[in-house]
Amino acid sequence: MKLVEPPLISTPAIEQRLKLLAQEITDYYRDKPLTVLGLLNGSIFFLVDLVRLLPLETQLECWRVQSYVGQQSSGTLQGLESCQAELRGRSVLLIDDILDTGLTLHSVQTRARELGASEVDICVLLRKNRVRQIEVETRWVGFDIADEFVVGYGLDFNGHYRGLRAIHLMGE
Ligand code: IMP
Ligand code: MG
Repeated sequence: MKLVEPPLISTPAIEQRLKLLAQEITDYYRDKPLTVLGLLNGSIFFLVDLVRLLPLETQLECWRVQSYVGQQSSGTLQGLESCQAELRGRSVLLIDDILDTGLTLHSVQTRARELGASEVDICVLLRKNRVRQIEVETRWVGFDIADEFVVGYGLDFNGHYRGLRAIHLMGE
């Protein structure tokens, strides 16, 4: 497997999209007690770049969960039992790199609600165009993409390529 050039989504395109997302998110959470909840490892660059564009008083939490092995969703989410945060009465903005089967975001959204969040909305950098195992409502989406495997800007293939500044397809 190797990287396809040129990138599917370039660094300037990501930067430009983040500015618009940040404006919309800022308008929505003005006057609300916002907790930004990022899912590691995939959302790390998106999370950091986005939060620094929000002129809001926010609390920041990170949860570490894992569903993927290689290029396949394993079908179960690991690590949720140890995810804790004081979310009672908070407006939670859940950030992830990509919406694929829906399993991860559905499970994490449920967990955040159990911990007492007053609302849990979702912002993903990428949304794959496919039939999902579980429907998940995303309030903010960076880019809609085809049902293909991508890496870079936080997204990995077995732990590799996360640090790439743009988003690439993987080819033979
Ligand atoms: P879901 O639970 O199937 O929606 O998958 C969500 C997680 O799978 C994401 O947080 C990613 O870590 C991983 N994932 C899904 N699609 C891709 C991809 O194309 N490249 C890299 N990681 C992916
Ligand atoms: Mg991930």
